[in-house]
Amino acid sequence: MGYSTLVVGGGGREHALAWRLAHSPSVERVETAPGNPGTAALGPRHEVDPQDPVAVADLAEERGSDLVVVGPEAPLVAGVVDELARRGIAAFGPTAAAARIEGSKAFAKEIMDAAGVATAGYVATGDPDEARAALERFDPPYVVKADGLAAGKGVLICSSLDEARRAVDEVLVQRAFGEAGDGLIVEEYLRGPERSVFGVCDGQDVALLAPAQDYKRAYDGDEGPNTGGMGAFTPVPGFGLDDVDQLRGSIFLPVLRELAGRGAPFRGLLYAGLVDTADGPRVLEFNARFGDPETQVILPHLASDLGDLLMASATGSVRDAEVSWHDGAVVTVVLASGGYPGEYEKGIAITGVDRAEERSGVEVFHAGTRRDDEGTLRTAGGRVLNVTARGAGIDEARALAYAAADDIGFEGRMLRADIAAGV
Ligand code: AMP
Ligand code: GLY
Repeated sequence: MGYSTLVVGGGGREHALAWRLAHSPSVERVETAPGNPGTAALGPRHEVDPQDPVAVADLAEERGSDLVVVGPEAPLVAGVVDELARRGIAAFGPTAAAARIEGSKAFAKEIMDAAGVATAGYVATGDPDEARAALERFDPPYVVKADGLAAGKGVLICSSLDEARRAVDEVLVQRAFGEAGDGLIVEEYLRGPERSVFGVCDGQDVALLAPAQDYKRAYDGDEGPNTGGMGAFTPVPGFGLDDVDQLRGSIFLPVLRELAGRGAPFRGLLYAGLVDTADGPRVLEFNARFGDPETQVILPHLASDLGDLLMASATGSVRDAEVSWHDGAVVTVVLASGGYPGEYEKGIAITGVDRAEERSGVEVFHAGTRRDDEGTLRTAGGRVLNVTARGAGIDEARALAYAAADDIGFEGRMLRADIAAGV
């Protein structure tokens, strides 16, 4: 008998997790809470608030789940894994105490300092005058970040000192990000390509995954506002598994040791967002969960069993966990609603998903979609679909992803045309 799994969350990352679990020999059943129209094809969906620890744990008990996999950060910070642990249910993801490494940027910096991990120079404060004064110590562009979770929008990159001062006001005085802006950090700007490196952790050890590259800005050529991510690819030429392995000793193990020493051992996915600077990789941020949309390329690239790997992280040791990769490359292109990451309309009919999925090597992961009473697929979020393709190399995967993206239509559909171009 294989594992019965429950994936918590309803975005593209959770569709990819559920899809990969469904294709794992160790897994018998995949259910999602709440999931989305894409996960409905894989198993039952349950209308439960992912941020309600008691409701999630009740559901897991009722369904007899062997393993609960928590996708997004908010349920982790809300203590979903803590509640599951109290009831003796295996859960993939950190406790609320360990998830603080994502939930508070100042805490993440404190951990990095204590663990000797290379990061951008910074000042953390909740005082507007102190923050304004701190700006003078940095060079443009200025980086101002709300301390708490702000759905990827709490990072303000400012070209002038005036603009940076306004950013400080926006966070600390006008409270544009609510409680997330109780404090902020002012940070040195790092130059170089960004990499996302994922480590599956068991509290002490880490199994490193293949790196991916994400595209955070909304428009081609890295222009426009920051988004949750507009596309991704793996593997990353010039930054291979050997390079990732170097980060075990310089980043992952020291951070795990530091968290464990503070009574908050980290089990689950530790995501290091790096800039590969002229002086070597430096950490921009940690996340306590799989990246979105990087997961949508990393999991189709994974050849070994995802269920066993996540179970090892949740209940045992990842030291001897099997992690192997397919040949070739994977590219995902995000189809977004017109206006994203600003205001956008919802409820627009989507056509052509079936056609795209008929192409061999293509998976379309649902992110912000819903089905109406007539069964029509409609937009329901900023990032709507992740059109994902495997190929012999990046160029082949990229061409296939864009061909499949062209099969899909909805009014206002927005995409970046340069995902994985020229790499
Ligand atoms: P974060 O949420 O901290 O990852 O920030 C979101 C995005 O803002 C990052 O992926 C970078 O593209 C950019 N960013 C944040 N901090 C810095 C920094 N110190 N230097 C350069 N870019 C940054
Ligand atoms: N793709 C960036 C993130 O998941 O935070």
